[in-house]
Amino acid sequence: MSAASAIAINGPARRVSLDVRNPDFFRNPLPAYAAIHAQCPAFFWEERQQWYFAGYDQVNGLLRDRRFGRQILHVATRDELGMPEPKPHLKDFDALEAHSLLELEPPAHTRLRTLVNRAFVSRQIEQLRPEIAALSHAVIDGFEKGGEVELLKTYAETIPVTIIARMLGIPTEAAPRLLDWSHRMVKMYVFNPSFETELDANQASAEFADYLKGIIAKKRVRPADDLLTHMITAEKDGERLSDAELISTTVLLLNAGHEATVHQIGNAVCTILRSGFAPAELFASEDATERTVEECLRFAAPLHIFERYALTDIELEDGIALKKGDKIGLMLGAANVDPRKFSAPGTFRPDRDEGANLSFGAGLHFCIGAPLARLELKVSLPILFERLPGMRLRHEPPVKDSFHFHGLERLDLVW
Ligand code: HEM
Repeated sequence: MSAASAIAINGPARRVSLDVRNPDFFRNPLPAYAAIHAQCPAFFWEERQQWYFAGYDQVNGLLRDRRFGRQILHVATRDELGMPEPKPHLKDFDALEAHSLLELEPPAHTRLRTLVNRAFVSRQIEQLRPEIAALSHAVIDGFEKGGEVELLKTYAETIPVTIIARMLGIPTEAAPRLLDWSHRMVKMYVFNPSFETELDANQASAEFADYLKGIIAKKRVRPADDLLTHMITAEKDGERLSDAELISTTVLLLNAGHEATVHQIGNAVCTILRSGFAPAELFASEDATERTVEECLRFAAPLHIFERYALTDIELEDGIALKKGDKIGLMLGAANVDPRKFSAPGTFRPDRDEGANLSFGAGLHFCIGAPLARLELKVSLPILFERLPGMRLRHEPPVKDSFHFHGLERLDLVW
């Protein structure tokens, strides 16, 4: 079988039929992306009944285009858009989403983002380098002698979840619960989640929010030097964050703080092991490490798609007409392999110098955690390859049946 079994393209009509659950596609979407780039990088996706964009310049431009937003209900009513009413069984999930940075548009977005931004600027984040290095070594100490490991549940998951929990001031013993809540919630970000997925995500949201209410109450009595205390006490224009905002922002930071990084670590290790490049060369200097990490982010991105609403009626340059409230899909994973931007895009080539990948998005919602994710990768990957120079894949790792979160089911290594 080949990617061809998952995709049918009518180039002149700009129509694509693509089954994201087809293993030929989700195991390796690059051949399907190459076909899309060759025939119609902007296309109407039959199964989804909306427009999608794969071209680098167009995705980059649309992410920055203020005529589009992650939210629409700040400029239109449900009635006007014919949008269904909220589902009562998603009450707790929706309550978190309602104040999530990622789901807001200015001015609400600006206010929240400004309050947390300071903690995530590169200068602040760089100070975490020794802590990330020490943690990486400690985790490897735990499995080095065994001669084998499943890397995702050990290394790839432990580092980001521990670091973001410590930054926020959440006890790291809670990590297993944080991971469980987060995994149950992010299942909502696939196409058409099932009723059971919705119920479970709602339950996880309620438990997560309850847990954080307790932590916030304790921090109010005993403030500490951590990001959550900073968010509790910080004021912007004389206003503090409400409890609902505090809880939503903390949940988002905890969830976003590890879900993608875990898979980026897994995807990067697998890519490097398959590439034939000597890890010692890939990580020979700060500069080489940076290029290797950026190429891993481009070539094996963990997040492949985000959506936007048209905030008004819009006619795009290529004649695509959108009505206020229409959704569009922006294919970050495909934009990263646009042959008009990157030469031989399907090849892992860490020496390339062809501009930024779009793995962290662009514009207003550009990933606030990008400096943190980059540092975690730049520190944890060289340490892993240096400590376990004989490391190799035990078998071809199974890929998750998930288009949105492109990652591995597990990553078994031996040395
Ligand atoms: C390799 C790892 C990561 C990748 C690939 C990634 C990717 C992204 C992308 C593409 C967006 C923009 C979504 C959109 O435009 O609709 C985003 C937003 C965001 N990310 Fe990340 N992320 C990563 C790690 C992190 C980390 C470590 C944090 C920790 C704080 C984080 C926190 C956030 C937040 C809070 C937003 C929302 C920003 C806003 O709406 O203004 N991410 N991320």
